[in-house]
Parts: sequence; structure tokens; C-alpha cells
Amino acid sequence: MKSVDRDLVELSDLAPEAIRKLLHRADQMRTQQVPLWRDSVRHVGLIFAEPSTRTSLSFVAAIDRLGAYPLQLDAENSSFSKGETLLDTASTLESIGAESIVVRDGNEMSARSLAEHCDAGVINAGGGTRAHPTQGLLDALTLLDEFGDLEGKTVGIVGDVLRSRVARSDIVAFQALGARVVLVAPDYFQDKTLSEAGVELESKLDDALPHLDAIQMLRIQKERGDGDPEHNLQNYVRDYRLDERRLALARPSLVVLHPGPMNREVEITSGVADGPRSRIRQQVANGVPVRMAVVERALGQASG
Ligand code: NCD
Repeated sequence: MKSVDRDLVELSDLAPEAIRKLLHRADQMRTQQVPLWRDSVRHVGLIFAEPSTRTSLSFVAAIDRLGAYPLQLDAENSSFSKGETLLDTASTLESIGAESIVVRDGNEMSARSLAEHCDAGVINAGGGTRAHPTQGLLDALTLLDEFGDLEGKTVGIVGDVLRSRVARSDIVAFQALGARVVLVAPDYFQDKTLSEAGVELESKLDDALPHLDAIQMLRIQKERGDGDPEHNLQNYVRDYRLDERRLALARPSLVVLHPGPMNREVEITSGVADGPRSRIRQQVANGVPVRMAVVERALGQASG
């Protein structure tokens, strides 16, 4: 039987202590001599059934830096496109030698079901609107780099919360480190059920901004449906876009995050995205050590 400690389906499966431990290991990975493993051939399968730039490439970079080898499925040009199920695809990768499988799928339960059926350690690289655990970890690492500790800090997550798997994983990661989380969204993009997770809900960005230490701006998930007819892009931009005028309401120490891909001038202006408070490039860079730590754990190599 596989140890469940190898899978990473949702951050809420992990105790806060385990989240801290993974972040600590990710921090160590930044200074490891690479490749970490030289005497073995370990394969990691990658199945991306939804588009990806940052996540898929940083998994490949992480696997390279560990000294393992990626088996990367091209979803459009594989038997996946002939109707082979995700589970059969994963079993095929396992038979070829994958000891860990990284999966991104539109179905939010896919990673969970693979984790139950596969001997390989399964890593969720984004499932529906529900979870994106490695993004939550890399966002948390970026904030730890900035503040050292998140105890007593307030982080705002702004925009299409309703359809954001990033928001859901960020909440768990930030809270595990002691931060207070405020979700800022118009009614049609808010998820009121998340108030049960101990977060605060706010509808006015201008009211929330002065109280924040960090802010994560979200992309409108157009590919997940048109959303509410009440949504009007012009009004959204007027009330929620982070631009330099609005930034003037914030503390001078506020840092700005965005998981990417950005729709420049919609949820964030270029002036802010490329400005001195932006930590967006740092987030992308942190994706590599975070995924090294997560893949190491999925291969059963993590110590302790
Ligand atoms: C996010 C995703 O795919 O959930 N992107 C990412 O992985 N960095 C966010 C998004 O698509 O808006």
C-alpha cells in the first residue's frame, strides 16, 4: 500500500505543520546542488488536460533539478484525445515507469480518484475550480520571503473567487501560516460558503485595501462559463482593477501577487504588474523549489 503522505490532492488534506514542513523543504531546495539525485532513474508522469504555462514548465524544471525525468503527455496528440480515460492514461504512465503523476484536469475530482487508484504519488496541478495546491504553496513561500512570518498579516484575494482554485488553495496555505484572509469580490464572483473557512468577505476593494499587507489579484475565468449576467466588464474594471490610483489607498509596504496568466488592464494594470510592489515574477520563480519539494515527497524520497 502506498503511503498517503506521497499524494498532494488538496492542501486541506495536510496539517498546518505538514504545510510548513513542505515550505521549509522548498526553501532548502533553492540552495541545493543540482541535480540532487545522480545514481537512479526516476520518472514523473505529467498529464495536463487543461492549458498551462507556468505550472507545467516549472514542474519540468523541478524534475530536472531533482535529477528525475519527466514523461510528459501531449494531451492533444495522445490516446487521451481518442477517448482513453484519465485512469487508463495514468496506468499506462505507471507501467512505463512513472513513480509519481502530476495531473491537471477540468474535473475537480480527477486527482483524488487517481490518488486512490495509482501506486504512484499523485500531485494535483489544478483541478476544476476546487484546488491548486502547489500554487497555494508557492504563493505562501513568496509571502514568507517578504514578511518572514504571516502571523498577524492580512492578505486580500480579489476578483473571480467563485471559480478560482487558486483562491481556495491560497486560503488554506495562508491560514496555515497564521494570516487573516479577506476575499474581495462583487456578489456575482463571491463564494459565500467560504465564510465557513474562517475568511472575511468584502465587496468593496477601496474599503479593504488600506488594511492589507498583501493582495492576490485573480483572472476572470472566462473559460469556465459566462458567469452571472450582472457581470459587466466596464464596471468590474472600474471597481476592482488594481491600478496606480487605487494602489495609493494601500499601505506603502503592500505587495502585489498574481498567479498568472494576467489579463493586463483588466484585473491589473501594467504599471502595477511591472511596478516595484509586484512580486509576480518571484511567484513564478518560487514555483520551481516548491515543486521540487512536492515531487520529492511524491516519490517517497522526503525525509522525516
Ligand atoms: C491558474 C490556474 O490555472 O488555476 N494559473 C496558474 O496555474 N498559475 C490561474 C488562472 O488560470 O487564472
